[in-house]
Amino acid sequence: MYIVMVSAECAPVAKAGGLGDMVMGLSRELAVRGHSVEIVLPKYERMRYQDIWDLQVAYADLWVPWHGSAINTTVWFGHVHGRKCYFVEPHSQHGFFQRDRLYGYPDDAERFAFFCKATLEFLLHASKRPEVIHCHDWQTGLVPVLLCEQYRGQMEHQRVCYTIHNFRHQGVTGRQVLAATGLGRPEHFLHPDRLGDNATPGALNMMKGGIVYSNFVTTVSPHHAGEVRFTDQGHCLNSTLDVHQAKFGGILNGVCYDTWNPEIDWLIPARYSVSSLDVKYANKEVLRERFWLRKTFSPIIGFVGRIDEQKGMHLVHHAILYALSNGAQFVLLGEAGHNPGINRQFWNLKHQLNENPDCHLEIGYSEELCHLVYAGVDLLVVPSLFEPCGLAPMIALRYGTVPVVRAIGGMVDTVCDRDFSMRPEHERNGYVFHQADTQALESALWRALGLWNSYPCEFRTLMSNGMRQDFSWARPGHDYVNVYEHIRHK
Ligand code: ADP
Ligand code: GLC
Repeated sequence: MYIVMVSAECAPVAKAGGLGDMVMGLSRELAVRGHSVEIVLPKYERMRYQDIWDLQVAYADLWVPWHGSAINTTVWFGHVHGRKCYFVEPHSQHGFFQRDRLYGYPDDAERFAFFCKATLEFLLHASKRPEVIHCHDWQTGLVPVLLCEQYRGQMEHQRVCYTIHNFRHQGVTGRQVLAATGLGRPEHFLHPDRLGDNATPGALNMMKGGIVYSNFVTTVSPHHAGEVRFTDQGHCLNSTLDVHQAKFGGILNGVCYDTWNPEIDWLIPARYSVSSLDVKYANKEVLRERFWLRKTFSPIIGFVGRIDEQKGMHLVHHAILYALSNGAQFVLLGEAGHNPGINRQFWNLKHQLNENPDCHLEIGYSEELCHLVYAGVDLLVVPSLFEPCGLAPMIALRYGTVPVVRAIGGMVDTVCDRDFSMRPEHERNGYVFHQADTQALESALWRALGLWNSYPCEFRTLMSNGMRQDFSWARPGHDYVNVYEHIRHK
């Protein structure tokens, strides 16, 4: 099958979070299965260009219709870790992708609406006719809308699978996007059955467009698929999902074990497997040196993630203080997000704890440090308020790092509580708490630290259980191929 992925992120070149991992991991799995996969991305000025091999112009002078005129666009081609990637570069005074960050600008909706339009123009003019176009998140929600409303004459057989990684960000915007893309007809498109936002009358919702117009819609775990339909986690899209329930489901993401695997990971100083678990502790020592933590006999708790409300940052803050007053060390690796209040809180905490030999807060994004943290810490705390899949705890499991998570979203599908789960003992791999409050978090951390301190053999069993589990792309890859086959023959 010939599949084109359209996404705002792809690891490691353009990655803000797990979306980038998922697009690369799934594409690689599909290629291993013999499918032909191409990935279309914006050409951000700030990308890891060192990871793109042989970047060259694939299509020059693509004139993309925009606001009744057209923007001259160049499409580039290069290989990223063996995958074929196209990069869309518009030449206009808007500088759509010449920014410091991937997202967080007032014109985000226009930037990515343009990306959708340009992608279809490129497929059309480069005579690319994939069987399936797989789109991701709100940034690409207009692809199926434009395909159906503007390009059907020339591209009649293309089917669209649309995967939602985060319902919190839906691309809610104004009708100017209809004018810009040439869709026009606000009374038609802003109808509640199409792109009209369910909460704000008169607003346009790009994610809703993706749901309504795609042939199949997935989210990134079975548990989250239920949450978005039946709880407030659907962020007002529940009724839309009800209408389209026959084409909606949850598929748990995989982890790419070519990248995330302590047996072959060249970003960690000492490689290990389940049969050489002791070697993990060499990484722990390097982590301590790297972050100026004192050498002592104590567990290290880690946090890896965006500094964002979603991640339950008040609970992360509490976990740091709890660790320090209960004989544990703490390491945080997190990139500042879009909430200035939360960013400030963590910068202040970092300054307060600057001299503390048992704690290090690294505020920033670092691929290299990230691998060292997973390999070096004993426990990873993930107290998210919502978490559609949660790759961080899945990666931790592979590194023999025991996750302490809130029972939410995909983490319900991946982490089993050591003490309270009904699952067989060998499937129990971490600690789970339910309420998003400090008592619940403390009780889980207390159990985890207790096991580490008093029952080291049992703790090791928990580590091994996690390492032996298979969260590779094999099964989800198979599930996505089934979805593609299903929509192709509809
Ligand atoms: P989300 O997609 O919501 O950010 P996930 O846990 O699914 O959460 O995926 C996050 C991905 O980003 C993981 O691969 C994680 O290792 C990585 N990551 C998160 N924060 C950082 C950081 N500060 N530096 C490097 N990688 C990070
Ligand atoms: C989103 C979600 C995260 C998920 C990731 C990859 O960013 O927040 O839970 O793992 O996408 O699908």
